[in-house]
Order: sequence, then structure tokens, then C-alpha cells
Amino acid sequence: MRSFAKVNLILDVLGTRPDGYHAIESVMQTIGLHDTISLTISEGGTIRLSCDVPSIPTDESNLAHRAASVLFESRGISPGLDIRIEKRIPAEAGLGGGSSNAAAVLRGLDRLLELRLPCEEMCALGARVGSDVPFFVVGGTAFVSGRGERVDPLPDIPPMPMVIVKPPFGVSTPWSYRRLDEMRAAGDQSEVTGERETASRRIVEYAGFRTLQSAVCSLRSLLSNDLEAPAIEQHPEIEEIKATLIASGASAALMCGSGSAVFGLFETDDRARAAADSFVAAPPCRPCLVFVTRTVTREEAVRIE
Ligand code: C5P
Repeated sequence: MRSFAKVNLILDVLGTRPDGYHAIESVMQTIGLHDTISLTISEGGTIRLSCDVPSIPTDESNLAHRAASVLFESRGISPGLDIRIEKRIPAEAGLGGGSSNAAAVLRGLDRLLELRLPCEEMCALGARVGSDVPFFVVGGTAFVSGRGERVDPLPDIPPMPMVIVKPPFGVSTPWSYRRLDEMRAAGDQSEVTGERETASRRIVEYAGFRTLQSAVCSLRSLLSNDLEAPAIEQHPEIEEIKATLIASGASAALMCGSGSAVFGLFETDDRARAAADSFVAAPPCRPCLVFVTRTVTREEAVRIE
């Protein structure tokens, strides 16, 4: 089955919570870039994971492994399981690859073992594995809040061509959140999301923009990501990648999640491909991975083939 990546079209970090996590409001979107996962129930009662990329952990620290344990534990069962992951989604990119794999394992096991778990139950299990996992259980376009565990599906947006650029460095998610706190504590008010500009407020405009002819043009002013500031402070190349995407015809460009990848939205597939080609020819930093993809609908995001 395919295990898709995501981008955050909007990511507002509202503040810290008593549990140490941050309250967020985000519009998340499944994209076509994906890993491929196969699951095989076996004898023996152990969970085994293999991956074609050697740097990906294959023990319990892998979120896909943990998702299977959490599901089995919740059902009081202990079948053997082989999980095979073919990786295409880069790590430390803000594309949610590990969380997506975890959600794919939950959905795949639900189907294989004929559990027919309600979506809410799968989301609750997913939230025990990682903050982004519930979104991937639902997929498509969604308004996400809490620490990520509250997922309200939104209507699908029309498919939009996209280019993803992953620079050679990664950004650690816990570091990004910590550095944002420090920047805010130091009084950098530009890094504070105020009442005026919450995601919930912009989401109303967002829903409205779908009906506008000038949809893609209005995106640039709509998209924002509070975690860009700490990431760009550490790696100014992220700003350069955004500028290069805009210069090569993107209607909007934004860092993905906590970074370090950046996405650009394009009006046509041809423009996206041309921008990707020019990026490969003259990248602002080397080596960059470049992917041409598009947004995908909820039906496609959760389909099990
Ligand atoms: O939930 P997950 O393990 O994916 O989160 C990784 C880290 O990112 C957390 O340990 C925390 O430092 C940070 N985080 C946060 N607030 C969120 C989500 C993640 O502070 N809403």
C-alpha cells in the first residue's frame, strides 16, 4: 500500500501546553510523494521491519513498528508481522514520513485482520505513536488542532501541482519548537501568532478561496508556517529555496512542517516540471533532492490497493 507524505498549508503554533507539547492549528494536506509498505502476517509472534534505506531504524523506535505494537496491545493479540518499507519520503524534512508509515500500518492491519475499527479509534491509537499520525489516518485536506490529535476533515481541494525541494541538511522537530519558544520569550513579536491571524480565521478565507478563479494566486498570502523562523535562522538556505521556487514560477512556496524541505505550488504540471528541471540544473545548495508531485484527495490518500 502507498504511504503518502503531507505538507502543512498553514501551521500556527499557539503556545506551550502543560504536557510540554505545543498547541497548534494547522491545515494539513496529503501529497502524492509516497513510500510503499507491505504487511505480511506470519507465525512466531514477533514484529519484524525491513527498509531499503539503511539509515532508517528498523527496531521499536520506528513509528511503523510502534504502531503495530500499540494496535496488537490494544486488541490483546500478538501475531507475527513482517513490515517492509520502500522509502522515498526523505527523513527530517517535515513531510511526516514516519508518521505516515505508522498510520498506513494501522489502516493496513485493520484491513488484514478484519478489525473494522472506527476512524476515531484508529486516530486515538495513532496519537499514542506520534502527533501527526491521526492526520494520516484521515488524510486529504484537514484542519488539525490540539497537539495534532484533533482532526477535522475539510472538503478536497482541486489537485494542485507541487515541487518539493529537500536540502542536504535536516531540522529536528523538538529543536524547532524549543527555538520558537526562545525567540518568542526574547520578545520577537513577529514570531507570535496573535488573535488577528489564527489558522481558524484564515481557514474561513481558505474555504472561500476554493471558489475563486484566482485561487492559486491568493495562496501566497494565505500560506504561513510559524516554524519557518527558527529553521531559517539556523539554515538561511531555506529562504533561498523559497525565493528560487517563486522565481521559477511557483504561485506560493513554504517550508514543510518543521523543515527542512520546502514546497512550491504551481498552476500546471508543465510549469512544475520546468521549475524542477531548472532547480536541478542550478540549485541554491547541493545536493538537493527534488520531487514533482501534487496534492491528493482523501479517497486516494486512504485507498488500500
Ligand atoms: O509527537 P511527536 O513525537 O511527533 O513529536 C515530536 C516532538 O515535537 C515532541 O517531542 C515535541 O518536542 C515536539 N512537538 C511539540 N508540539 C506538537 C508536536 C510536536 O512540541 N504539537
